[in-house]
Amino acid sequence: MDGNKRPDTMARIVTAAQADAFIADQLAKVRATVGDKKVLLALSGGVDSSVVAALLVKAIGKQLVCVHVNHGLMRKGESEQVIKIFRDEIDANLVYVDATDRFLDKLAGVSAPEEKRKIIGGEFIRVFEEEARKQEGIEFLAQGTIYPDILESDGVKAHHNVGGLPEDLQFSLIEPIKLLYKDEVRVVGRALGLPRDLVDRQPFPGPGLGVRCLGAITRDRLHALREADAILREEFDKAGLAYKVWQYFIAVPDVKSVGVKDGKRYEGWPAIIRAVNTTDAMSATIEELEYSLLHRITDRITHEVDGINRVLYDLTPKPIGTIEWE
Ligand code: XMP
Repeated sequence: MDGNKRPDTMARIVTAAQADAFIADQLAKVRATVGDKKVLLALSGGVDSSVVAALLVKAIGKQLVCVHVNHGLMRKGESEQVIKIFRDEIDANLVYVDATDRFLDKLAGVSAPEEKRKIIGGEFIRVFEEEARKQEGIEFLAQGTIYPDILESDGVKAHHNVGGLPEDLQFSLIEPIKLLYKDEVRVVGRALGLPRDLVDRQPFPGPGLGVRCLGAITRDRLHALREADAILREEFDKAGLAYKVWQYFIAVPDVKSVGVKDGKRYEGWPAIIRAVNTTDAMSATIEELEYSLLHRITDRITHEVDGINRVLYDLTPKPIGTIEWE
């Protein structure tokens, strides 16, 4: 049987009991495959790699080595949360690499979106490779591939893209959730005890804020974007929208306009709010936000974030716009 094809007889995982049965089955399989060897995992902090990490920690404990590469393009607090959950709470063997300077130095002055993506993807593989070489006795590479990844592509996930490792670092793959749909991954994540803000996390592109800090990334504009994005998330949370809206974020273009602050001319960037609903990300509609909420967000961002002097709401559905600005 093709191990990459979901059997027609496989029931959808909906209940906690079904998730428990799936977990028990995978624990046995992983233990049988891995034995006393070691497994490496790139832990981005997204839903899929997090669920794989929690599952493998349960199966093989410290034989799993998780590597979290902070490329400096994470949302506010996300790398800290990875450390808190996986190192402090789950007691995983976690290697944390703060590679912010490496990524931002490479990206300096680069404005073309595809070029930025290439640099981020390429640098990620190099950092991961360096960490992999420091580890002794790794035989397996775990990946958070899920079924839609297999259906849509060659099964190698863009943001876990460690498929570009050199020949001498080709490990056998372990992909415990490769036959699951996203909603099933979330049910399994909950059954594993992962917190809601991780299990129900919005999709986050592999290149992270790199696709939202438009044009050539500078540290000050990236900082402004991250802070504005954190305010947006906080206000959505307070308004009960955190888990209702499918994806929401801020993009900051490389454009300044004139404004006034404390009676003086103040040139700043605009923060663009994007808040969309979709089922498959192929098409998307706009969330109809209350004006009172938009005013509150505008007020907070323009007062609290250095460098931002306007807030805009993007009303463009997909198509014609894509979800990300890029
Ligand atoms: P677009 O902008 O094409 O985005 O409408 C559709 C969805 O895909 C997400 N996205 C990515 N996800 N790696 C990912 O895992 C990526 O490189 C990437 N680029 C975009 C985007 O956030 C949206 O949910």
